[in-house]
Parts: sequence; C-alpha cells; structure tokens
Amino acid sequence: MSGQAPGKAILFGEHAVVYGRPSIAVPVLALQTVAKLEPYEGDPPGRLQIEAPGIGFSGVVDLDRPDASEAKALAMAVRLGLQHFRADPQSGLKLQIQSGIPIASGMGSSAAVTVAVLRAVAELLGKALPAKAAAELAFEVELLHHGTPSGIDNTVVAHATPVYFVKGSPPEPLQTATPFQLVLADSGRPSPTGEMVAEVRERWQADQPAMERTFDEIGDLVGRARRVIERGAVDPPAPTAESAGKGPNAGNDDGVRELGELMDRNHELLGRIGVSTPELDGLAEAARQAGAAGAKLSGAGGGGLVIAITRVPSQVAHAGNSIQSALRAAGAARTYVTQVG
Ligand code: PMV
Repeated sequence: MSGQAPGKAILFGEHAVVYGRPSIAVPVLALQTVAKLEPYEGDPPGRLQIEAPGIGFSGVVDLDRPDASEAKALAMAVRLGLQHFRADPQSGLKLQIQSGIPIASGMGSSAAVTVAVLRAVAELLGKALPAKAAAELAFEVELLHHGTPSGIDNTVVAHATPVYFVKGSPPEPLQTATPFQLVLADSGRPSPTGEMVAEVRERWQADQPAMERTFDEIGDLVGRARRVIERGAVDPPAPTAESAGKGPNAGNDDGVRELGELMDRNHELLGRIGVSTPELDGLAEAARQAGAAGAKLSGAGGGGLVIAITRVPSQVAHAGNSIQSALRAAGAARTYVTQVG
C-alpha cells in the first residue's frame, strides 16, 4: 500500500514558465518520497491519521476539513485520489510519509509528497494510476501552495523523465543525446515558492515590457538548450588537431559546455528578475571555479537550490566530488549528484 515519487530540478526556465515560456526539468531519482496508506479500523470513515514528522505534522484530521495547515495538502491528495477512483472507504485511514527530499528547497518535495500519496491511494484500491492522471491530480494540490503554478513540478515528478514543458500543453519527454551530471547544492535557506512568485508578479506589474523582454530571453535560451540536449552540441568550436581524433563523444563534451553557458546566462537573467541572492550567486560561482561547465539557481530562488553541470564521471574522474566540496566550503548545507541521460 505504498507509493513513491522522486525529487526534481528545474534545468531552465523557472518563473518565465509561469508567463507562458518553455522550461526544462529533470527528475532527481536519488531522492525519493514514500507514502504508505492503510485502513485504520479504529476510526470511522472520513478520519485520517497522519505520521509525517519530516514535514512537520503528526496527528489526526478530518479528511474533508483538515484544521492544521500542514495537513491540508496531504488530506487533499488522499481525498482527490479516493474521488478519482470513486472509492468510499469503510473505515478511517492511516498515512505515513517518509521523504528523503528536503522541504522548501526547490527539489520538488511538495509535488513528490502529493504524487506518492496519490500512488498509495491507487495501490490501496488495487488500481492503476497513469503518470498523466497523477500529474493532473497533483496540479490541483499545487494550487494550494501558490495561486498560479505552471504545473512543471507535478509534471516532472509524476513522469520521472526529463521534460520540456509549456504551461497548459502536454509535457514533451526529452531523449538526451548529451548525457550529463548535475551537482545539486541545497543552500539550507528555505525557498518560499509562493512569496517569490508573488514578488515576481509585483515586478511584472510595475514594468511589464522589461520583464516580458527578460522572459523572452529566457524562453529563447530554453529552446537552444532543448536542441543541445536532444541533438548534442549545436555550436561546436572549429575542430583542432587535438580534437580531431576524439571520436563521437567530442560532441557531447561540447554539448555539456554549451548547456553550462546557457545555465550561466539563465542564472544572470534570474538575477535580473530579482530572485537570486548573494548567497546563491556565491554558490554558483564556487561551482564554476571548481570546474563545473555552468551553474544556476534552480526553482523559485530566494534560497533553495543551486545546480551545476559537469560531464558524466566516466568522462571526467571525480569532477563531481570536487564541485561538491567547493559548494560545501561555500556554505551549501547539503549536496547531491544525479546523472541525466
Ligand atoms: O520552488 P519550486 O522548485 O517549486 O519551483 C517553482 C518554479 C516556478 O517557476 C518559480 C513556479 C512555477 O509554478 O512554475
């Protein structure tokens, strides 16, 4: 009776995605949330026992009217799952959450918890829940967290594959011709998604032409990043005597270099819309100094996550390790590594 879902990192296009521009996100399979749901015979139907110490809540709530704000999203996910399958449990239910994804860190913890709960409901009822349905139901819960979610978090977490995502359109899974490694650094400072999205909205209201221009620039670089991910380097340097004998992987090296440059540029543009901080700038710069091909804040900003890109370990021994050490020396609370492609 358990369901599971991974974390995520937004590679390109956060915030601009709320304004209709494309974005790219990848799952972080090393970080998972597990939800267990079972009947709780001691309680009448409509009661939900919750044990979720990692997200700050343990107690019993009314499924339709949870009082505690921390329990609202959990109760809603259970309720939506039951409604989706038109199920009417004959007793209360008990939900346990174990999450390896730090909360409010830009790694998709809230979407992962919701998708894991929805899958646990399906499992309890012996039903199948396709990723598309899980993503759509989880979007309803994302609306609780902030009023104008683009839907990227719930989509990438439910599909657990790299996606190219435009708000309101079906996600497009990406095949990666350019495999790469991401080093993730949790700044340890929470990233309040709702507040950051609201701040960007205020700036947009104050100067729409300037903000729209920046969003256009971000959208443009997301399109370029997609081409590099799917086809390899699009702008390789002229071959030199040294690179001539390198074989097919030479293109992948250049692809990672180009993705890194696009990440650096995306970070600058996120600074321009006001969501970076000196701390996040410092982490991104530390990763670049330690040999990353590029780095940027990821997610809502204000705190939360910085991601850095390197070639896969088979191509460059220990690069991920030295970047992780540099990020921790620059103040990261936790670091992780994940491979894409
Ligand atoms: O903070 P996160 O990881 O939930 O990322 C939010 C991404 C935004 O683009 C800022 C908001 C959204 O709904 O897409």
